[in-house]
Amino acid sequence: MKTYTLNWDTYKQLARTAVSEGAVLLKNEQATLPLKAGTTVSVFGRSQFNYYKSGTGSGGMVNVSHVTSPLEALQATEGIDVNESLLETYEAWVEENPFDQGVGWAGEPWSQPEMAVTDELVERAAAASDVALVFIGRTAGEDRDNTADPGSYLLTDIELELIEKVSRTFSKTAVVLNVGNIIDMRWANEPSAILYAWQGGLEGGTGLVDVLTGTVSPSGKLTDTIAKSIDDYPSTKNFGHADKGIYQEDIYVGYRYFETFAKDDVLYPFGFGLSYTTFATDVVSSDETNGVITVTIDVVNTGDVAGKEVVQLYVEKPQGVLGNPARALVAFDKTNLLAPGERETLTLSVPVTEFASYDDNGATGHESSFVLEAGMYRLYAGTDVRSAEAFYDYAVEALEVVETLSENMAPVTSFERIKPRATESGLTVGYEATPLRSVDVEARYLAERPVVREETGDTGVKLADVYHGKADLETFLDQLTDEDLACIVRGQGMNSPRVTPGTAAAFGGVSDRLETFGIPAACCADGPSGIRMDIGTKAFALPNGTLLASTFNTRLVEDLFEMTGLEMRKNRVDTLLGPGMNIHRNPLNGRNFEYFSEDPHVTGKMAVAQLNGMHRVGVTGTLKHFSANNQEAHRHDIDSVVSERALREIYLKGFEMAVKEGKATSIMTTYGAVNGIWTAGLYDQNTRVLRDEWGFDGIVMTDWWAKVNHHEDEPANRQNTAAMVRSQNDLYMVVDRPDTNSFDDNTAAALADGSLTRGELLRSAANICRFVLTSPAMERALGIHDGSVEVIGLDEEADQAIDFDVTYRHLESGEPVSLSDADTSTGSMHVFAVSVDETGTYDVTITAKSDAGELAQMPVTLFANNIPGPTFTFNGTDGEWVTQTKQVFFLNQHNYLQLYFALGGLDVKDITFTLADSFSMKNG
Ligand code: BGC
Repeated sequence: MKTYTLNWDTYKQLARTAVSEGAVLLKNEQATLPLKAGTTVSVFGRSQFNYYKSGTGSGGMVNVSHVTSPLEALQATEGIDVNESLLETYEAWVEENPFDQGVGWAGEPWSQPEMAVTDELVERAAAASDVALVFIGRTAGEDRDNTADPGSYLLTDIELELIEKVSRTFSKTAVVLNVGNIIDMRWANEPSAILYAWQGGLEGGTGLVDVLTGTVSPSGKLTDTIAKSIDDYPSTKNFGHADKGIYQEDIYVGYRYFETFAKDDVLYPFGFGLSYTTFATDVVSSDETNGVITVTIDVVNTGDVAGKEVVQLYVEKPQGVLGNPARALVAFDKTNLLAPGERETLTLSVPVTEFASYDDNGATGHESSFVLEAGMYRLYAGTDVRSAEAFYDYAVEALEVVETLSENMAPVTSFERIKPRATESGLTVGYEATPLRSVDVEARYLAERPVVREETGDTGVKLADVYHGKADLETFLDQLTDEDLACIVRGQGMNSPRVTPGTAAAFGGVSDRLETFGIPAACCADGPSGIRMDIGTKAFALPNGTLLASTFNTRLVEDLFEMTGLEMRKNRVDTLLGPGMNIHRNPLNGRNFEYFSEDPHVTGKMAVAQLNGMHRVGVTGTLKHFSANNQEAHRHDIDSVVSERALREIYLKGFEMAVKEGKATSIMTTYGAVNGIWTAGLYDQNTRVLRDEWGFDGIVMTDWWAKVNHHEDEPANRQNTAAMVRSQNDLYMVVDRPDTNSFDDNTAAALADGSLTRGELLRSAANICRFVLTSPAMERALGIHDGSVEVIGLDEEADQAIDFDVTYRHLESGEPVSLSDADTSTGSMHVFAVSVDETGTYDVTITAKSDAGELAQMPVTLFANNIPGPTFTFNGTDGEWVTQTKQVFFLNQHNYLQLYFALGGLDVKDITFTLADSFSMKNG
């Protein structure tokens, strides 16, 4: 049996390295950083204590026991002294102004109030120390975009004043940004140094301090352009709308826009980032053979300390009839650690086909094709998009068709899109009508439906027989009834009792009957920045996506995700719900922290690296959200109106790379629509592009409780699994009871009226089983591997022990659960799990008594699925039983509950849950 070993120290070290390599140094005058040995540093800003390890929502809910704050890490550094008097002032202030968690899902504030500083305080600090650090913190996340307001994208007046006063008083001030996403930088001329530290997960503080103290020289590069104002981004005016989001900027996203039309609006260009050392880069050779351009570049460390450098290759295409951006990233690589004077030769290869543009209106005579228009393709090499220098011209004599495809996902709403217009002073923004859909997608879909195979009944074939090559998958699946097939396309969650407690969903063997055929339940868990388990199980919190991409170090990310893969095996998670790989179309998107970049090439490469790492140990990731999930506001209803060209070149591109190069086997669609059709039912995307063109043969799942429709004239709803299956989105995520159709989906009805065929259901069932067959869940079911992972360097008893066998006690509304065996001593936690028939709001009544005095306070807090719920504060009752009633919301049918006794002295009898207001996601 294969053995797996997870070395926790290696995991931590890789994450710490990623944090230090992802930090982007934008400015470093007067050698402000690194902090020299013997320095006393004055640390301003509350994020020194309250470090944001990630953004919010599903991608931020990894439970950790402790996140080392930057302050703790600084204090642990020999040779650096922290200005204690300033620290005391901050500690006292933070005590009076504690961190505000906000209330519930998407209820966290984007930032915390900052202490206003007086001139006198700053001057006193400056008298006692040589250099100041100013921490600025921001969060945002799922269901909650940033806004262009102070405290979100903009700094607050107090923060601006803080930076201004400290920068004016100290000769050396470094502003450190603990943010998920780029923020407004109009204040950038004030401090002498600026470091984007992002949100670094568990090792965020330690990795950051490695950079601050010079243990590691920064080598991170911006994966987004920082413009002077939010209004400079061409997508801003079309961001956040309620119904339609018009992608008028088309392919001109991020630097593709700024470098083509608006160079002066840029404060810091894409790809930019400083180091503590300097490098000389020199193209040594460039040569084209068989359609691949190979470039060798010498990088020499010309400075005084060791460091790494990132080399980037961009192409400038001829304008042709299609129009093209002035630059597009086509390759990058990062050196190893180079000592002063050391040299490394990097070899980068670019297939010429990478230069192709997509013709979505037939202007070149080749509609729906990737083409190379005639002209000069100029390659630039450098260390950011702006300073990269031309070094090679590749001439295309006559138009070449690289790939002939077909029209898919084209818009139905008319709009004008940006197209460069040549003027005497260069290219300016012009517009053209966006080509609209011209095919009859319904007729095409009908003609492409799979053949229907008849049900054979149970012939005794098990999935194990398919695994061992004794039967084919079709023969196996033909045994299933229509009800079985309707069941297998349902994922069970959240908190399914069939898989690791607290995870997002089970899929595959989600009913007892399906299990009798030997189909195990596979498990998926959020994602992307670590494993989320809502019963409170601790896991490793990874650096956020933007930070990882800023490392430009695919080898490092791959190694890190091998560790995550092992951790998934340990927790019996078959696929992580990540990488998140939507494009940073606009800085205000709340989930940008989960995603990588404004650029599809970096996005694709990072996703490939994560997948490669997980695949090394036999688990995988789920690419999300497919596609054009670019705002959180109105996410269930927003229709992204976008050209086919922008889809092909920008929004689908990274997914395509992850499928073709990263061998992805799992994808999640979005909540919203692309060009009128909700992606969970978008046949053109989920079948024609993904599978027929790219060769994907894995599973596609919906986002949790997504809406679905089949065509743009049909209103989307959560019951339309028929449209989902027809599109070859295989799994509806999630329902409570897959075997009873608890979500009232329309699969059976559609089979009955012929709008859905058994052939289509069989096709999705095959996709699901194919996935399951190669998963660790199957290995465990067959006894090929018991799922155990040896963990070195982690005290599991104290930290990450996991209970795979939670038993859910089924409760009738109002039925008491005895608490007589609960330990109610101070600080104890009583854990139990219940399942209920209906989700919704429940009245919770606790019966308790205490002999303590009547002014004694004995608070008991109820956590449901690790989310803090009501606190019942009992006083002494003179030994009489009393009751208190509060409310709790059960989103799931299966609920893991914890009662926390903050102070002992209470005698508890029982707890009852009585349904007050039924709520179901199916109607919600
Ligand atoms: C998010 C997904 C996530 C899923 C499961 C949804 O709210 O959009 O990204 O994976 O929940 O938690």
